[in-house]
Amino acid sequence: MKFHVLTLFPEMIENGLHTSITGRAIEKGILSLNTVNIRDFAGNKHGKVDDYPYGGGAGMVMQAEPVYGAYKSIEEQAGRKLRTIYLTPQGQTFHQKMAEEFSREDELVFLCGHYEGIDERVLQEIVTDFVSIGDYVLTGGELPAMVMIDTISRLVEGVLNNESSAETESFQDSLLEYPQYSRPEVWRGRAVPPVLLSGHHANVEKWRREQSVLRTARWRPDLLEKADLTEKEKAMVKG
Ligand code: ADE
Repeated sequence: MKFHVLTLFPEMIENGLHTSITGRAIEKGILSLNTVNIRDFAGNKHGKVDDYPYGGGAGMVMQAEPVYGAYKSIEEQAGRKLRTIYLTPQGQTFHQKMAEEFSREDELVFLCGHYEGIDERVLQEIVTDFVSIGDYVLTGGELPAMVMIDTISRLVEGVLNNESSAETESFQDSLLEYPQYSRPEVWRGRAVPPVLLSGHHANVEKWRREQSVLRTARWRPDLLEKADLTEKEKAMVKG
């Protein structure tokens, strides 16, 4: 999977993603990361890429041409149009199913904005997906792009060493994950739930399922509508 990122701050993307699991996957060649500095396409010697908004108002707007030039450099390299994601609070909210869908592409472009946004005309020209990572406003699209790339990456075969771990996690079945414990058996007076030490696999699974349902009811009751609960479980979360 190849990720291209159009940004004014390539070092932020590089530093973030050349770390930990994504970093190792890039080293192994399972993922590839190509950052493009929009400022390199400024077309003036000052590297200026923003200007005042038509109609007035606070802040500056990123101009169309540098963004277009940066995108075109990638399109030419790929030899075809690529799915291009613009990170914006005005987009569709990112979720796991969307990540799964994006993970089936073999090349993606992320466009990171700054200031008060990007000239609408270039967005109309190149963007295929407008995506928000949640109902809050960040200073730029770099962190949201990294959130998306990280989430998509772990769905790409070979990125996680444990194949099953991407499957059994939160949201796959609309439930939050059960709690995890490791050694020691007692930590500061808090004991590991005995069932986990019992070696009784079916009971462990039963307990984990119950914990998932209870946690979801407590913290994300909105998810329960989509979850496939048994009658007994429905009664449990009602009470
Ligand atoms: N840029 C600024 N805030 C954002 C958000 N919540 N999601 C995506 N891009 C953004």
